[in-house]
Parts: sequence; C-alpha cells; structure tokens
Amino acid sequence: MTHYLQTLREMRERAMQGGGSERIAQQHSRGKMTARERLALLLDEDTFQELGALATHNITDFGMDKNRVPGDGVVTGFGKINGRRVAVFAQDFTFVGGSFSEVQSHKICRIQDVALESGIPIIGLNDSGGARIQEGFRSLAAYGEVFVRNVLSSGVIPQISVMLGPCAGGSVYSPALTDFVIMARGISYMFITGPDVIKAVTGEEVSFGDLGGTLVHNSKSGVAHILAESDQESIELVKLLLSYLPQNNTEDPPQVARYDSPDRMEESLNTIVPEDENEPYDMHHVIEAIVDHGSFFEVHPYYARNAIVGFARLDGYSVGVVGNQPAHLAGVLDIDSSDKIARFVRICDAFNIPIITFVDTPGYLPGLDQEHYGIIRHGAKVIYAYCEATVPKISIVTRKAIGGAYIAMSSRQMRCDLAFAWPTAQIAVMGADGAVRILRKRELATADDPVALERKFVEEYREKFFNPYIAANVGQIDEVIEPRETRPRLIRALEVLRTKVKQNPPKKHGLMPV
Ligand code: HXC
Repeated sequence: MTHYLQTLREMRERAMQGGGSERIAQQHSRGKMTARERLALLLDEDTFQELGALATHNITDFGMDKNRVPGDGVVTGFGKINGRRVAVFAQDFTFVGGSFSEVQSHKICRIQDVALESGIPIIGLNDSGGARIQEGFRSLAAYGEVFVRNVLSSGVIPQISVMLGPCAGGSVYSPALTDFVIMARGISYMFITGPDVIKAVTGEEVSFGDLGGTLVHNSKSGVAHILAESDQESIELVKLLLSYLPQNNTEDPPQVARYDSPDRMEESLNTIVPEDENEPYDMHHVIEAIVDHGSFFEVHPYYARNAIVGFARLDGYSVGVVGNQPAHLAGVLDIDSSDKIARFVRICDAFNIPIITFVDTPGYLPGLDQEHYGIIRHGAKVIYAYCEATVPKISIVTRKAIGGAYIAMSSRQMRCDLAFAWPTAQIAVMGADGAVRILRKRELATADDPVALERKFVEEYREKFFNPYIAANVGQIDEVIEPRETRPRLIRALEVLRTKVKQNPPKKHGLMPV
C-alpha cells in the first residue's frame, strides 16, 4: 500500500511544479504569478478540489514525447469564493506557454459541464499562446468543444475571463464568448495573430502593447471590460464582481446587510445639474450620491465614456446602473456607447439584476461616419435590449432626453416600470434650434432680422417644451421628483417591483441586431 501511495504522492508533487523551477522563476521575473499561486489567491483557503491533475498528452511529434508534465499546462477544479461555489481553470504558461491541447480541452470541458449542470459561475485564468502547434489540428478542433460550452452556459451561469499573459488565437475567442473580460496592465495581451504574422501578412509593424495591450482592449476595441493594475488586483476584482452576481439565472444576486440609510436624502443633488444647459456635470457623482456608499463598481469605464454602466447596491440589493455621461461628448449615443449599454442591459436581465437608468442625452450622434458604420443597427441594440429585458426597470431623466434617445433610454413606453424625472428634465422630440428651423422656415426666410427672430422662436420653444411637465401630464413620466429624494424613491420602488413577473412570448431566440 505504501508503494502505491508513494507513487501517487510523487506524481502529485510533480504536478505541483508545472513547467519546472526555471520556468517558474521566469514567470515571476515577468511580474506574473503561476497558475497555482493565482488559484490560491482566488479561492477560499482549503476549498480547492482539483480534477485532472495527473492528465498528460500522448503526442510524440516535435519531441513532445520527452516533454510531458502531469496536468498538461492547465489546473482545473472547484472551490469557493467568499463561501460561494465556483468552477475554475488556470492555464500554466510555464509548460509549453500554457498552449491549449486536447487534454486541456477535456479538462476545461469537464468543469464547464459540471458548472453548467450545478448552476455555479466559472472563472478562467487565461495565460496561453493559443492552440498547441505541436498537436496540429487536434488542438484546434478541441477549441470547438470549449466554445460550444461557453455558448450553452451564456446567460445561465456567470462566465468570467481573466487575461493574465500573452493570449493568442483560440485563447482569445473563448474569453470573447464570456460575460466579463478582465485584463491586467503590463502582462495581458490579446490578439488573434501576433505582431510577426501581421508583419508577414499586411506589412504593418506593431508592438504587443499597441496591438492588443490592456489600454487597446479596454478603451478602443471594447473587448475587455475591466482593467486591473496587476495579476493580484485582477483576482481581487473577480471576487468583487462576483459579489454582485447570482450563482445562476434562476437565483437572485446575494443581498448584503444594510449599511446606508434607505431614507438618506442627498441635498447636493438638488444643485448638481448646472443652470446653463450646455455646462457638463459628471454623472458618476449623481450615481455615487444615490447608491449605497462606495458600492458603485463600474464596468467598461474606459470604453465609450459617453455612457456609464456598472453594478451598485441599493439598500443592500444588487442593481445594474446605466447612465449617459454629459461630461463626455455631452452624453450623446453613438455606435460604441450603444453597444456598451445594450450588452450591459442584457447581462443584468440574464442575471435577474434590476436596471436603473439615468438619462441625460441630446440624442443619437449625427454624422457621416456614424451613419456609414451603422448607428442605425447599433443604436437599435439599445432599444432591443431594453424592450426585451423583463427585470425591474426604473429610469430617471436628469436633464436632456431628446428625440430618439429619449425613447431608447428605457422610456416608459418600452416596458420601463417607473419613469421619474427631475425638475431640470427637458423631454422633447428634438432640439430647439432644429425644431425652429423646420417649423418656422417660411417666417425666418422673409424676416427683416432672421437671427433675432430665430432667437425669439427658440426661446419660446424652449419655454414651452423643455421641461418634464408635458411628459408627466400625459403619463410618460410617472412622477417629477426633487433630485435629493431619488435614493429613497428608488429603494421604495424596487421594494415594490421585487416580485415583478413579466415574460416574453415563447421563441427559440430573438434576432437582436448585431
Ligand atoms: C506551442 C507555444 C505556443 C503555441 C507559445 N509556445 N505559444 N508552443 N503552441 N501556440 C511556447 C513557445 O514555443 C515557448 O517554448 C514557450 O511557449 C514560451 O513562449 P515564448 O514565445 O518564449 O514567450 P513570449 O515571448 O512571452 O511570447 C508568447 C507568445 C508567443 C506571444 C504567446 O509564444 C507566440 O506568438 N506564440 C504563438 C501564438 C499564436 O500564433 N497562436 C495561435 C495558435 S492557432 P520554448 O520551449 O521555446 O520556451 C490558434 C487558432 C485557434 O489558436 C482558432 C480558434 C478559432
């Protein structure tokens, strides 16, 4: 018996060493932790149950018969985060660059299956150069098995991808199918092909960072949703993110004990919107003043900054917050902000998280580029996502709600449960200048002083239509409230809506414009 135990212990010990001490030292010298160190930081102490620790590949080409380690470059299993069950995998760059093999696929798919059937979140710590080239087609095909499970799990269990190394090829497509992508500054890169291939194909010369670094994907491509400063911080952010999410789509997110008075009136909000309608203010300040102190966790903060999305708590309950940002491009809705909002609304709806929408937008952005790149198609996603969502939805118009963007941003007519407006709200079909030029075209054409007349007409139009009361009179706004009352109003409304039941007609799936 001791002999058998001895063999098992030796094999396990070998698995612990990954690609060996030299490679581990190299990993550390790059400011990166090993797969096992990352999991130790992620999971509650002594909760990790590893599976497939001893699995090895059986490839012999390219000298791989002499290059085998137990685990084959990925650590997989189950554990707990703050007492809640999760499935995890962590790729081990110290063995063949964490490259994705057939064995890796079997191991990852195994925990994907159990996670889906048990209804628990799955977190992937990615550090991989993509399909293991020595395995040829086998490793490539194996990605398909992972992708199909990503898609079947989508909207059922939260899937979080943390990018912790140079990830290429298939190693970026699986994360792209998941709900949240976190990148760590200076160590994470994502691209479908690296700089060398790009140079060969297009002749372009580009560095790793400029091609697929953290800033590129967090601010430009929108592929990444959260930026961490380090390996360690990205792990902490996973824990924080999970605290707002349910285990699966049949459960509600966890509630935290009340620590901020539900009746708190925030006096500063009564003066936060400037008198001058063209003067910006920061919607972050509005959100932060209303939600439970310190609970706002912004998602996608560097991408399409004219919109704000993120999670927060109201009286201890998770909510999703969407806002236009008047401090950036006047809060206009463009292609990127439409994508950002639509995606976030659908995540909230999938995971039973009520959506609070703060509206201050002059409308969809006019312009040739926007039209040619498809603002109609992308803008329609916002409408689709809000119309489709059955979770409780509450909107607050703080200032401008003009034109199509008023309807799109969770309007009363689009199954929004409660629509509030501040007295500073301007709810109108279009901007005053544009409206006057159309409605008063003839009078302006024959006027002695068209400029002065236009100014007068604009003033009249604004006086008459730029307020919340016409919309409130016809029931498009449920109540005009003092800004300082917003927190208690929202908390009471959510209490009522907590038992809301709403269903969409049965269908295979909708055809959201993509
Ligand atoms: C086999 C790989 C590998 C891979 C890295 N390695 N990627 N081995 N298959 N895909 C090995 C290296 O040979 C090296 O081994 C070790 O891992 C560390 O890699 P380095 O290159 O030394 O590290 P670094 O300089 O940090 O560069 C990392 C890298 C680079 C950017 C990931 O290795 C790279 O460009 N790899 C190829 C990336 C790629 O094109 N993947 C696409 C695969 S096709 P030794 O023993 O020499 O130290 C694919 C298609 C799927 O994934 C499509 C699905 C839709």
